[in-house]
Amino acid sequence: MEETDVKRGDRVNNLASAEEKERYVKSIFSTIAKRYDVLNTLLSFGLHHHWKKFAVKLANLSPGDTALDICSGTGDLAILLSKKVGSRGKVVALDFCQEMLKLAQEKIKAAGIINCNFVYGNAEELKFPAESFNAVTVGFGMRNVAHIDKVFREIHRVLKPNGKAICLEFSHPTSPIFRTLYDFYSFKILPRIGGFISRKSDAYFYLPNSIREFPSQDELKIIMEKAGFGEARYCNLTGGIVAIHLGIKS
Ligand SMILES: C[S@@+](CC[C@H](N)C(=O)[O-])C[C@H]1O[C@@H](n2cnc3c(N)ncnc32)[C@H](O)[C@@H]1O
Repeated sequence: MEETDVKRGDRVNNLASAEEKERYVKSIFSTIAKRYDVLNTLLSFGLHHHWKKFAVKLANLSPGDTALDICSGTGDLAILLSKKVGSRGKVVALDFCQEMLKLAQEKIKAAGIINCNFVYGNAEELKFPAESFNAVTVGFGMRNVAHIDKVFREIHRVLKPNGKAICLEFSHPTSPIFRTLYDFYSFKILPRIGGFISRKSDAYFYLPNSIREFPSQDELKIIMEKAGFGEARYCNLTGGIVAIHLGIKS
């Protein structure tokens, strides 16, 4: 009998432990790594480039600054950050999936960028001293970590005073009509296109389910504030399909 979409969604959402979620997430990204960029562009109609540019603009970096991009994947944000901080600055791209990091390294080399280092590591336990970075970004990664609060506490620790935390993530559309259309697209169309092209159908069933499970814009703001960011703020992009949360370390 054919497995239903709901059953597949349940299977990926009901991962019993943090270790199980980490193993699952790593296996998904290692399998889809080679097709990740093309699918991102296809399934977001190219919008992810605009969302990422806007996120980096909010980081408000200057030449010579240092930035960390966690859950860096194939390195899109790291590339944009590297251009902002220039040759006197430094960017670190961190991920726990070797296959994604390898692609990031190739892309960054092809872009002629020399101020970016790559670190294999877990966003929940950053191996950097306190107050190391002017900005920490995370793009479409927070949804995948096992403990969001822990990651924000780590981001807060490694930021310099006045440093900025930028979290770009899929979120919850604000208009009910738009949400219904978006749900149809993300639960019915996206998994089929994504599954067909990536040959990993689970991955693109996991995506809409993980978005639905992810805290709302206001809930995420509170999580950031509890992690130490005095007054976190957010803005919705594309009707709330995506939200960017900004926290400044006081
Ligand atoms: C959806 S991709 C996002 C990639 C990239 N930031 C972008 O915006 O296109 C999520 C990435 O987060 C990484 N990731 C998930 N959980 C992680 C963790 N706990 N520590 C480090 N990387 C993690 C995955 O390996 C994957 O490369």
